Amino acid sequence: MLRRTRALLAELPDTAVSAASGLYSTAPVGGPEQDYYLNQVVELRTSLLPRELLRGIQGVEAELGRERTVRWGPRSIDVDILWYDDLSSVETDLEVPHPRIEQRRFVLEPLAELAPDLVLPSGRTVVEALAGVQEQAVERLVVERDAAEPRRNRGSSVDYSVVQAEIRRLAQEKGAVILAHNYQRPEVQDVADIVGDSLGLSRQAAASEARMIVFCGVHFMAETAAILAPDRPVVMPEVRAGCPMADMVDAEGLEALKAKHPGAIVVSYVNTTAEVKAVSDICCTSANAVRIIRSIPLDQEIIFTPDENLGAWAAKKAGREMILWPGFCPTHEWIKVSDVEAARAAHPGAKVVVHPECRAEVSDIADAVESTSGMIRFCREDDAEEYLIGTECGMLYRLSKDCPGKRFYPVTEVAVCYNMKMTTLDKVLAALRDEGPVVSVDPEIRARALRAVQRMVEAGA
Ligand code: 13P
Ligand code: SF4
Repeated sequence: MLRRTRALLAELPDTAVSAASGLYSTAPVGGPEQDYYLNQVVELRTSLLPRELLRGIQGVEAELGRERTVRWGPRSIDVDILWYDDLSSVETDLEVPHPRIEQRRFVLEPLAELAPDLVLPSGRTVVEALAGVQEQAVERLVVERDAAEPRRNRGSSVDYSVVQAEIRRLAQEKGAVILAHNYQRPEVQDVADIVGDSLGLSRQAAASEARMIVFCGVHFMAETAAILAPDRPVVMPEVRAGCPMADMVDAEGLEALKAKHPGAIVVSYVNTTAEVKAVSDICCTSANAVRIIRSIPLDQEIIFTPDENLGAWAAKKAGREMILWPGFCPTHEWIKVSDVEAARAAHPGAKVVVHPECRAEVSDIADAVESTSGMIRFCREDDAEEYLIGTECGMLYRLSKDCPGKRFYPVTEVAVCYNMKMTTLDKVLAALRDEGPVVSVDPEIRARALRAVQRMVEAGA
């Protein structure tokens, strides 16, 4: 049954079993109806998102005739997503990391074979957590290994080198430049020509002489590149990757607000659609919001869209009053004061660096509030050895690469932007092969948006 399950998992689209633990016999954990059972942990290499993977797993269970009568009762098969690298989700039907991952020896024992140093939600590694749950009877079975079954070496990770080499070869052949945002998956960052923040990537798009721009990020970023480089195709490997915050303001609503404040200057965060940029006077990113606001004459009213948190932070720094649109970034909104306090208690001595999209009360207690490029500069120049990072978790990879020897921890691992993780290497490869999907902007809207975007690029960081 376990072998058949693994085979079915490997048949899911874009999915392969890349490692498997040994087989374990486990004593009952539930009521009297529970019997001894077998379990195994496998590592999947997949481009499916957690929800897609969950649907696939439910299909596997259905195919194997899963019966689940009572919570802990006998059942034919039970497949769980324990961990999804770089992603976490707390929803009623999908909780990753698995909420009981640290309480079960039958989970930790096989997991320790594959990823002993994996850091769990409590901050402990798998091996450390295992030391705390020894009471359950779990026995590793001696079974003949299937020679074809892959087994990961301790500490190694999935090998992306073949697909990365093919992406680099195609990029060169097609004269493409690959731009990736700091929040992209590590393997996507590694294959890019340039990794940066939204301001840096906009500038690179404007300055690049490449025949084609491949943009690994979210939709407004590719759209901004298309506004700045209308003569070249801007290809987006995952065109469905949007930004929920950018969708919180529309041109119609902004026009209505402008009508109430005639004469006000509209400053829009780059996280907006081209239509909103077209009815804005100037755009900004988190790297230059304060500088841009300071450049506006003191007697001029300012409307700031769509991020209320960034707006409030920049207004305070610039010493200005602004009319704030009530938008926010869901990923940064998840970062709470209690998370900062818990992380500080776990890592005393670490400095807290957060993004200005965080809630005001979080920014207020941080040691530094920086854009993603500002975080890299700050951590490079600062003399601390450890940092707690309050932004999308992809930033930790970027920081670890840029600041070797320093240690970075997330303030909370729930700060994951699903849209940023939708771009996978397979999609980058397909986009290069197909030279699409292309992101384009209506020429009339582009002409009106260009002025605001150009002012942002010219303002610098
Ligand atoms: P940066 O401009 O700091 O890269 O941030 C972009 C973004 O989307 C933050 O959530
Ligand atoms: Fe948008 Fe937030 Fe994701 Fe940035 S992290 S792209 S602001 S949802």
